[in-house]
Amino acid sequence: MRQLTDRNLTDAVIARLADVKDPRFKQIMTSLIKHLHAFARDVELTEEEWFEGIKFLTAIGQKCDDKRQEFILLSDVLGLSSLVVAINHPMPVGATESTVLGPFYVHGAAEFEYGADLTKNATLHGEPTWVTGRVLSIDGKPIVSATLDVWQARANGVYDIQDPDSEFELRGRLHTNADGRYAFRTYKPAFYGVPTDGPVGEILNRMGRHPMRPAHMHFIVSAPGYQQVISHVFVAGDPYLDSDTVFAVKNSLIAEFKKVDSPEEASKLGMPSPFLRLDWDFRLAPATAAKARATIAASDAVGAR
Ligand code: BEZ
Ligand code: FE
Repeated sequence: MRQLTDRNLTDAVIARLADVKDPRFKQIMTSLIKHLHAFARDVELTEEEWFEGIKFLTAIGQKCDDKRQEFILLSDVLGLSSLVVAINHPMPVGATESTVLGPFYVHGAAEFEYGADLTKNATLHGEPTWVTGRVLSIDGKPIVSATLDVWQARANGVYDIQDPDSEFELRGRLHTNADGRYAFRTYKPAFYGVPTDGPVGEILNRMGRHPMRPAHMHFIVSAPGYQQVISHVFVAGDPYLDSDTVFAVKNSLIAEFKKVDSPEEASKLGMPSPFLRLDWDFRLAPATAAKARATIAASDAVGAR
């Protein structure tokens, strides 16, 4: 086809995928081309606007290095990261819901004992908080030796790894005890803004949006035989719960941080008085549920062909 017009161009581009061997790659490229062309038609994209878009994506790439991933941040603020999580982790009823990983997870954080104090080397202080709960199967059985990876921002809303003067702070790996229980001491998390000193900050501003995330703690919980869950616990009452800039809030992940004003309770736990307490159980879906979902998805894909 030589005489390409705005009417037949999309089909002509898709036709060039005829020899692609990998069916999944072919499906993704076909859909991407269709939707990109539909978008340009829908908004009647001008050449100036198209070039602005190219300049924007170039700036996004130029902002990336081994510490900063501006493309992931763009995906986050456009809700794409949350959508991909929702598509891939439809948890069975009763299992803890997943949400975005975010850019501040670090592999290989230090290991801590049950009840450890994650604030020990903190350079900034906050409200002392005792966090405890169990890791359970969806039918309520305690899971022994489950692993919890925990991380959160410091009181100024900046993560340790964003600060060249900070060692690991408010992060670590813990395990459940023989009752399936975990516990640690930390600070109550504070709300914070995602980085705005790059092109994502500019586009948020242009969209009239704030960059704030409601206060939260991050968890990755895993145990053999169960699906790993990447999740958050959000602080009830936070002013940004309804407008999280990365669209990651789920009602089931909002928790009360309760004030405990009892010197006896505090001394039992080695906490100052008063302190805050978060009781939070995780419920993991069996690994077999993920396998069953993958099998259904594969047979759906075959059926759709
Ligand atoms: C975070 O919660 O750490 C986060 C998630 C998405 C973008 C930026 C930060
Ligand atoms: Fe975070």
